[in-house]
Amino acid sequence: METFKALFRPLKIGSLTLKNRITLAPMFLCYANPDGTVSEKMIEFYARRAKAGVSLLVIEASAIDAKGAGFSRMIRVDDDSFISGLGRLAGAIKDAGGYAILQIYHGGRYALQPAAPSPVETYLTPETKIIPKEMTRDEIKDVRNKFGEAAKRAKKAGFDGIELHGATGYLLVQFISPRTNKRTDEYGGSLENRMRFPLEIVASVRKHVGKDYLVGYRFMPDEWLSDGFTLNDGKIFARRLEKAGVDYLSCNTGTYESWALPEIMKLSSKPGYQAGITHEIKWEVKIPVFANGRITTPELAEEIITGGKADAVALARPLFADPEFVRKTIEGRADRIVKCMNDFICMRNTMHGMDAICSQWKKSESSD
Ligand SMILES: Cc1cc2nc3c(=O)[nH]c(=O)nc-3n(C[C@H](O)[C@H](O)[C@H](O)COP(=O)(O)O)c2cc1C
Repeated sequence: METFKALFRPLKIGSLTLKNRITLAPMFLCYANPDGTVSEKMIEFYARRAKAGVSLLVIEASAIDAKGAGFSRMIRVDDDSFISGLGRLAGAIKDAGGYAILQIYHGGRYALQPAAPSPVETYLTPETKIIPKEMTRDEIKDVRNKFGEAAKRAKKAGFDGIELHGATGYLLVQFISPRTNKRTDEYGGSLENRMRFPLEIVASVRKHVGKDYLVGYRFMPDEWLSDGFTLNDGKIFARRLEKAGVDYLSCNTGTYESWALPEIMKLSSKPGYQAGITHEIKWEVKIPVFANGRITTPELAEEIITGGKADAVALARPLFADPEFVRKTIEGRADRIVKCMNDFICMRNTMHGMDAICSQWKKSESSD
């Protein structure tokens, strides 16, 4: 622990005080039941990581609207009937010593019923090209309200906060990006207009959960595409989110479309590849900022914090590969941490509707 002084210094976020700065980044695991309810496997997965010392756990993208879900077997939070299962999940995490945050989401043009600011087709692969339906003003209003209602359900279920999914190329990104938003009404055109919908969602959430409840934002600083949302826009948007009452920004750069580019693929295999851009956002705001992306060791995490690049780190696959990452760090056994191989077996499985698994689990189960 002596070696990781910054990592184990408490951090205040809104009304919460984190015991350390290692958080779990959201990961869609495909562990929910087919009807969108929380499963026992899911509870066990998250509780185990909380028990091993992760301070704050952001639970994977959860659908605010069945039509807006991107995959089958996603958690749903679009009806009161889901509250009891969500309550068991939040309770298990809290009993294990972590804070439980639910990420709430709408897939937009990647949803099972694709709807987006404009009918701009996706450019993933020829087989997966989608031309979404352009959302009407009434639909925009409806989705805005559904985000608020979903946040209220998360609060009722006992979650310590919610995180709005504003990254990865999903609906909120589709509104802020000039690449996917071609509207000519008050929701399109200038940056001011493109920010309108996500900012209205923050206001709707605040109206539903009150001013003291933790509201985080999964934030895309830069789209990493020449005709997309730029870091310059990102800096302005970060300040506006802070002003609107967001309590933290968890930075995750790029979208599915930029990650498929060979140069971005190469860049994203490097440990800590997003720390620099996260630092640029940290300069703009006073609220805590989380760094994401291949933060593979506690040494690197400590360096990011002591270097002032972020206030906390958000690890997805490193905590997936080794649930005991934090415990081993605390106990001075960081050299025993089993590393993520960056092979994306976890993601490949979920894309095909199968439970996420890790090629390293055999190793991590026998690594104590
Ligand atoms: C299988 C899988 C599922 C993911 N699901 C989500 C998600 O639900 N929400 C989200 O914001 N990011 C999601 N991500 C992105 C991760 O949170 C994280 O930003 C990314 O994996 C890079 O960080 P890492 O190197 O620590 O894994 C997912 C990533 C993977 C591999």
